[in-house]
Order: sequence, then C-alpha cells, then structure tokens
Amino acid sequence: MRILVAGREGQVARALVARLAPDGHEVTALEPPELDLTRREGIAAAVRAARPALVVNAAAYTAVDRAEDDAALAHAVNRDGAGWLAAEAAAIGAPFVHFSTDYVFDGRKGAPYVETDAPSPLGVYGASKEAGERAVLAANPRSAVLRTAWVCSADGANFVKTMLRLGAERDELRVVADQHGAPTFAADLAEAVARMMPRLLSAPAGDEAFGLFHLSGAPHTTWHDFAAAILDGAAARGRPRPRLVPIATADYPTRAARPADGRLDCTRIGRVHGIAPADWRDSLARCLDALVGPIAAPKE
Ligand SMILES: NC(=O)c1ccc[n+]([C@@H]2O[C@H](COP(=O)([O-])OP(=O)(O)OC[C@H]3O[C@@H](n4cnc5c(N)ncnc54)[C@H](OP(=O)(O)O)[C@@H]3O)[C@@H](O)[C@H]2O)c1
Repeated sequence: MRILVAGREGQVARALVARLAPDGHEVTALEPPELDLTRREGIAAAVRAARPALVVNAAAYTAVDRAEDDAALAHAVNRDGAGWLAAEAAAIGAPFVHFSTDYVFDGRKGAPYVETDAPSPLGVYGASKEAGERAVLAANPRSAVLRTAWVCSADGANFVKTMLRLGAERDELRVVADQHGAPTFAADLAEAVARMMPRLLSAPAGDEAFGLFHLSGAPHTTWHDFAAAILDGAAARGRPRPRLVPIATADYPTRAARPADGRLDCTRIGRVHGIAPADWRDSLARCLDALVGPIAAPKE
C-alpha cells in the first residue's frame, strides 16, 4: 500500500518509515523542498504524485521557545499546512493521521486530560497545534489526530539525548521536578499507527475510528524522574552517573511556558483501537541500547 509521510528526518517520521516499510508498504517520506507545508501548491502536487492510500503528517514546527517570536511561521506550518495536507488527502479519498500535543492544555486540571477537555494553550506552539487540530478535522473528516507528549527516539533532538550529552560533560545536572507528563517513544507512536491503519482505511467518515485521541507512554512521571531513569540506564551501560538535583520550573525559566501537568488519559484509543500506552521504561532501554550500547553481561 502507498503511504505518504510528511516529514522525513523528524523523530516520528523516521520511526514511521522504519515500522511501515518492512511490512511491504511503499512509504514516501518527504520534507522541504519536495514537500513544504507552507506551500499549498507543492502539497497538492506531492499528494497527487504519490497517490497514497493513507497520508500521515509527521512534520511540524516543533521549536516551542522559538515559536514565541515566530508565530506566523508556527501557524503557517502547524495550522495552515496541516489543514491543506488533510484537505488534499480528502480530495483523493485518503484518511489522514496527524500528531498534536499535550501543550494544547494549560496543565491546571489536576488530573489526566481527556479528549473532551477544553484546550487552553499557554504558548504560541500549543496554540498553533490546537488550531491545526481544528483545521485538520474540518478539512478531512477521516482524520485521526493523536495528541502525544515528550517525544523521544534515538534520532533527532530530544530529552534523552540532551541528558546523555550533559551527563557526559557535567558532574551535576539540575532538572525540573514539578512538571508532570509521560515520555513517548516515536517507535511506539509508529506501532500505534500501524495497528490503527486497517480500520482507518476501511471506516467511513463519522466512524469513531476518527477524531481526537490521546496517546502517550506510561506511567506518568516528572522530567526529573525521567532524567534519573536515563542516567541510571546510561550508568548501567558504563557511563559515569552525574548527581541529579531536582529543581522547580521557576528555577529554569524558558521563553515559552509549559503546562505543569500535561498528563494525558489514553482510555479512548484503548477502547476504540485497542492500543494501550507503551511502558516508556522498556522503550527507553531499547533507545539506550541503540545510543549507548547494551548492558554488559556480568563477568563470571
Ligand atoms: N517532540 C515532542 O516532544 C513532541 C511532543 C508532543 C507532540 N509532538 C508532535 O509530534 C509530531 C512529530 O514530532 P517530532 O518530535 O517527530 O518532531 P521533529 O523531530 O521536530 O520533526 C519535525 C519535522 O518537520 C519538519 N518540518 C518543519 N517545518 C516544515 C515544513 N514547513 N514543511 C515540511 N516539514 C517541515 C522538520 O524539518 P526541519 O528539522 O528541517 O525543520 C522536521 O523534520 C509533531 O506534530 C509534533 O508537534 C512532538
């Protein structure tokens, strides 16, 4: 089956290609200049040339802090481009998979968010992604929008790689301990898409297979405790273990505000698609095996 993936070098795009191509699917993953989400005509041409049965949008403007000073481009990519791509998929009868974020919420609920909770983004990135969700769902009723969080993989820039780099350079790391969420590995998102695909391809518009879904890893944690798991895993693979100091968000100011508690309730995707959140500790172990190497067997 032909699948068009927008994005090629991104974490989720690479995981999608790695997961779907070995199943025999013809996966075309495109980035600028071949597919630039800010150029409507190019989007139409790319979709028509690929003639995919499914379109997945793994491309996005993801620089959360930079977006505060770059709102026009963030909205152009995350709202307009996503909507145009969804519309082109609809025009050829293809369902659409799109990714969004827990940053559409302000983090003040005090409990995991469900899909029917009202978004209230704190920053430009979250606002652009929330506008993108609406654009996508309006342009293509056969869209599944997966809101996810804290995406990591062995590719690209992410928290795991930052901790490994800083852990090799410093004796002490200070990491915020008052932001709650769940790491989500790109390979687990790709696995979810692979499992959702048959139903998305056959279900008609209006079916509960489409719409908003929350999908993060499990269990919920904090950035500090995630950092501890990364550093412990790296130490088990022979890296030095720096001290880890918990700090408050107020001690680590960033240009964009982040939700203090972006935990996602993933019940709906389980009920509709039979997908349970992957345990990020298992996915982290595989990621560290790839980035650092396997844990050495104990000497006899
Ligand atoms: N990363 C996270 O922690 C996180 C959390 C929640 C949700 N998400 C969502 O998950 C999805 C995948 O994220 P990811 O982590 O895989 O992101 P990523 O690694 O930053 O990849 C995004 C890709 O989109 C490309 N892109 C940027 N502008 C584009 C444009 N105008 N046209 C076409 N491609 C463009 C980027 O290319 P360049 O690098 O060349 O700009 C990059 O290859 C996104 O929808 C994101 O919003 C991510």
